[in-house]
Amino acid sequence: MANSALKLADIDAFYGDSHVLQKVSFELGEGHLLGLLGRNGAGKSTCMNVSVGLLPPRAGAVEVFGAPVTRLPPEEIAARGVALVPQGRRIFKSLTVRENLMVAARGVIPGTTHAPWTMETIFTMFPRLAERHAQMAGYLSGGEQQMLAIGRAMMSNPRVLLMDEPSEGLAPQIVAEVMATIRKLKESGLSIVLVEQSPKLVFDIADDIVILNSGRVAVVSTAAALKNDGVDLRQHLGVF
Ligand SMILES: Nc1ncnc2c1ncn2[C@@H]1O[C@H](COP(=O)(O)OP(=O)(O)OP(=O)(O)O)[C@@H](O)[C@H]1O
Ligand SMILES: [Mg+2]
Repeated sequence: MANSALKLADIDAFYGDSHVLQKVSFELGEGHLLGLLGRNGAGKSTCMNVSVGLLPPRAGAVEVFGAPVTRLPPEEIAARGVALVPQGRRIFKSLTVRENLMVAARGVIPGTTHAPWTMETIFTMFPRLAERHAQMAGYLSGGEQQMLAIGRAMMSNPRVLLMDEPSEGLAPQIVAEVMATIRKLKESGLSIVLVEQSPKLVFDIADDIVILNSGRVAVVSTAAALKNDGVDLRQHLGVF
């Protein structure tokens, strides 16, 4: 196994009295892409919130590149190189494209091997954002907003990128563009967790797959083994 970029070990997490993650464990290898699958409400976003410090777990441990970060505040976890592209994008709609990128700028995280991301490299990756740099983000299309959300995360020069359902609500052609972007980011050496509901999107790009079911890990596998084994995914993911 590659070095561990992100590890969740026996995580129990609650919203109030509601016990939403039960002993959840999985590990993202350095340079790997882990597909995190599960139906509505399975606990995928909660895993992301725990990973970036937005929801401190009640039990269990989170590690980033082998260092414990459990219950550290979000800004300290971000400073160790973990960035989240949140579900629903959450860009600043009344700021311009350029301003959205600027607010996320951060120096290079120690241990980063890739050349630092800048406004210029983001604009090279997403020419449409360059064209619209002065426009208010709220006027962008859904696909452009998703690209801005990814660009904003990259401005923090992460070593670990967490993407929570980046394809949600996008037309198939735009989903294909987003997936091509994710593939490029993976090729640049970034370690990535890609949360999706549809296994079809994830299987071709992921090294490893984790399936959550009702707040528990139901399946941990390499993508290749899962494909060949013909595991009945419907059992865990419903009809798709
Ligand atoms: N802020 C919250 N307060 C209380 N309960 C919550 C909160 N956020 C999520 N939940 C509940 O926790 C469980 C896990 O939710 P989570 O958002 O992690 O699921 P998910 O797998 O990301 O689902 P989806 O695919 O719909 O985004 C669900 O039962 C959900 O209703
Ligand atoms: Mg979610």
